[in-house]
Amino acid sequence: MTAPKKLFVKTYGCQMNVYDSERMAEALGSEGYEQVGSAEEADMILLNTCHIREKAAEKVYSELGRFRPLREANPDLKIGVAGCVAQAEGEEIMRRQPLVDLVVGPQTYHRLPAMARAVEAGEKALDTDFPEEDKFLHLPKARKPKRGPTAFLTVQEGCDKFCAFCVVPYTRGAEVSRPVDRLIREARELVERGVREITLLGQNVNAYHGEGPDGEWGLARLIWELAEIDGLDRIRFTTSHPNDMEDALIEAHGTCDKLMPYLHLPVQSGSDKILKAMNRKHTAEKYVQLIERIRAARPDLLLSGDFIVGFPGETEEDFQATLDLVKTVSYGQAYSFKYSARPGTPAAEKPMVDEAVANDRLQRLQALLSTQQKAAQDAMVGREVSVLFEKTGRLDGQLVGKSDYLHAVHVVAPKTLLGEIAKVRIVESGPNSLKGELI
Ligand code: 5AD
Ligand code: SF4
Repeated sequence: MTAPKKLFVKTYGCQMNVYDSERMAEALGSEGYEQVGSAEEADMILLNTCHIREKAAEKVYSELGRFRPLREANPDLKIGVAGCVAQAEGEEIMRRQPLVDLVVGPQTYHRLPAMARAVEAGEKALDTDFPEEDKFLHLPKARKPKRGPTAFLTVQEGCDKFCAFCVVPYTRGAEVSRPVDRLIREARELVERGVREITLLGQNVNAYHGEGPDGEWGLARLIWELAEIDGLDRIRFTTSHPNDMEDALIEAHGTCDKLMPYLHLPVQSGSDKILKAMNRKHTAEKYVQLIERIRAARPDLLLSGDFIVGFPGETEEDFQATLDLVKTVSYGQAYSFKYSARPGTPAAEKPMVDEAVANDRLQRLQALLSTQQKAAQDAMVGREVSVLFEKTGRLDGQLVGKSDYLHAVHVVAPKTLLGEIAKVRIVESGPNSLKGELI
């Protein structure tokens, strides 16, 4: 038997890339590759890249340059680029960086085994198609080892929304939903391998409309079906667009015990003028009303969001509207970014807001959001939550897990509780996590 070849996958960006990296490693497993933890030991390095924000491509090129000494030490080392930068740059990557043997876009991972064979034979391999078939369908049946208690499951990919700032519709392509039966099968397999919590992924996950046994199913129906799986205790989903928040999904937040009380629902801006320029297709008021309906269904829901400051044309008044919306809604968790022009998107043609002004707004927004985040975390003290324990903590005897609300919680607990869910009373709120006691 030949020794296994060693694969190092480095993942950037979103959770969908984390999921894709797992699938790529499984696909290459069938070619005799085994995953290792560092580039230095690898026979193949794959960078799974992200293009969402500034200088993504430049960062990939500089990372690739750092592999030169490794190639000199091991002339057989193969280097590949996957993900959204691979899709956006295509052949240009190989032209600019001859070290690269393989370029694979996010929709063709099932073709990786053949591509790996080609590069092992000394060829270059490039595939940035958007094929008709499901990229996960043709993946080889890999060995199914036991795994951690949480997993991602990609249910839809791509996006048709075309927000004026966003590259996703170009790099991930049009919105495609995976059929219900395959998702149920994959979820069952995950549960058999020890998974207790599944996060359903999609660039616009609540637009899910997969083929079911009796016509198209929306996300809510899929969630109810997954909730039937014994041993699966928690379901989450991300990321959603406000306009696709169907009634059944709102209702499920109140009635489906396995659907966790956490929702990531980005609004990006609180100014109607900017929302229109962003092509978000809803107003600030409509978003606020939507949040009210969701909170009516599930009052303790922890809300998370994304914001962009300094979008072209944003005035101080527009920015104030964002601050006002944040104060009205109150977020338990949020991500905020300074706008950066993504080449090829409509907004990239527009004049930028002054850099110093944008920086100042980002700081002010982040100050407000972190106050809210801390308040939501502090409000957990004294409450009873359920915690799914994922790993051991830094202190002796401590385990760390996530509460229903996705807060990290440190608890003194026996190791036998790893991978299990237990009731915990929160006793302290630290800078980034909570401390609790088993009940
Ligand atoms: N500039 C800044 N932030 C962006 N995002 C997406 N594109 C850009 C951009 N060009 C942010 C949005 C989105 C999140 C994933 O990244 O807030 O919701
Ligand atoms: Fe990008 Fe999300 Fe808008 Fe789609 S809905 S274009 S992924 S920001």
